[in-house]
Amino acid sequence: MEGGLNKKDWILMVTAQSPTNIAVIKYWGKRDETLILPINDSISVTLDPNHLCTTTTVAVSPSFDSDQMWLNGKEISLSGSRYQSCLREIRSRANDVEDEEKGIFIKKEDWENLHLHIASFNNFPTAAGLASSAAGFACLVYSLAKLMNVKEEQGKLSAIARQGSGSACRSLFGGFVKWAMGNVRLISKDTNGSDSIAVQLANEMHWDDLVIIIAVVSSRQKETSSTTGMRESVETSPLLHYRSKEVVPKRILQMEEAIKTRDFTSFASLACADSNQFHAVCLDTSPPIFYMNDTSHRQVLFSCLQDGSQLLIINYMEKWNRFEAMPQVAYTFDAGPNAVLIAPNRKVATLLIQRLLFYFPPSSDTELSSFVLGDKSILKDAG
Ligand code: DP6
Repeated sequence: MEGGLNKKDWILMVTAQSPTNIAVIKYWGKRDETLILPINDSISVTLDPNHLCTTTTVAVSPSFDSDQMWLNGKEISLSGSRYQSCLREIRSRANDVEDEEKGIFIKKEDWENLHLHIASFNNFPTAAGLASSAAGFACLVYSLAKLMNVKEEQGKLSAIARQGSGSACRSLFGGFVKWAMGNVRLISKDTNGSDSIAVQLANEMHWDDLVIIIAVVSSRQKETSSTTGMRESVETSPLLHYRSKEVVPKRILQMEEAIKTRDFTSFASLACADSNQFHAVCLDTSPPIFYMNDTSHRQVLFSCLQDGSQLLIINYMEKWNRFEAMPQVAYTFDAGPNAVLIAPNRKVATLLIQRLLFYFPPSSDTELSSFVLGDKSILKDAG
């Protein structure tokens, strides 16, 4: 077959979709900023890819003269070290690729000289605390790996996605996922963080009656990015260091057990406690970070409420869990104001949505959507 590099008129593309994930035991704080190695393990649930997801198309052609990327139709720079790490790691694992139909043959060593065009779309607000970077980098790494015929297993790919954004490593798997922090005693540059990977605790079928409800109370970008926020917390919050050493290791074991035994009461109380402690760490940071109040002075949230709706949602959920003769519901907030509520089943979710709509009627800025926990193929090839 004729070497593809001799002709200039071909293009090879792969499209993939990747869902976002929501941490129920949070990652907050790095021990290595470049490799993105965390100070504690974390656990998340991966959402159904049909809802909050990133779709990425990666293309290669000898006619491209530089690597370029567009996010939601706008060109963005690939010069940042996170993109460069992912591209470098994937390129170094590339293999021969042959497309018989198009008569293309790319030799392993050709990848170093070929340029890429990458187009990525989020079907949800970018950087509003809905883990857009998680879905984005997971999708980027997965689609590049497909394009370049990288043969690494998903866990190894997760260690590459991690170098784009920590939480991205968890989006490489469906269901319930743990990001193991890796061994702190090994010098990170020796292992290259290769033991800090995501592992699937249970697939989505294991506990498929859970329903995740996301109340998008603001689609504005957060003021303090997770990266900056957690760096400041590592530098200034004594609570964070207590949390990572004394609290999270026990919580991880308890959460793993709750997931294994489908014990929703434990699952919910651990998730709520961990979200609240994460936001307490943010307050313990100097200067303090207010993710949950971020929008209170700017925008009407749920239309009847002007201020601090996130706190009202927490209050409401705490009342629901304590006083109503109802099964428990979990809430969790990431580094943004949007509420993620997890109901044990569809019946409870329906009732909860009815009540939430009554107490917090939606304005045009608010979306209240319910999502069932992922379906089988979390990452699918669409191309
Ligand atoms: C609050 O993964 O976005 O959502 O690694 O710096 O890119 P970087 O941070 P990122 O942080 C996510 C923080 C969180 C908790 C979590 O997802 O575990």
